[in-house]
Amino acid sequence: MDKLKRFGVSIEKKLLERFDKYVRGGNYRNRSEALRDLIRKELVDRQWTEGNEEVAGAIIIVYNHHQKELMDNLVNIQHDYGNIIISSQHVHLDHDTCLEIVVVKGRIDEVFKLEERLKAAKGVKHASLAKSTLAREI
Ligand code: NI
Repeated sequence: MDKLKRFGVSIEKKLLERFDKYVRGGNYRNRSEALRDLIRKELVDRQWTEGNEEVAGAIIIVYNHHQKELMDNLVNIQHDYGNIIISSQHVHLDHDTCLEIVVVKGRIDEVFKLEERLKAAKGVKHASLAKSTLAREI
């Protein structure tokens, strides 16, 4: 871990009370710990708005595996993005429904394109993207 630096923060009383409640509710040991987490979260969110940055994340899709040609379609899409897919896990939720977690590492624009294609595949009922980071700078 980097050397810690201290800095002062001026903040409205009401906002600080709400923040302290947040700190307690999040089981943080102190304000500093909570503030560090919030800053990192904001920096990661900001990073995801900068198209050609390299990031890590996971795309989760839920679909009905009886849907005609869907399984082939999903496999073809994933082969097209083999350069950014690190791994994928398939879970059979019940008789009809599957959940797949596709772990990605690569350029943001490529990750979004993959997400769009998976989401648009006919028979995919839900898709969501967990945006994370390679944590090189935070
Ligand atoms: Ni399945």
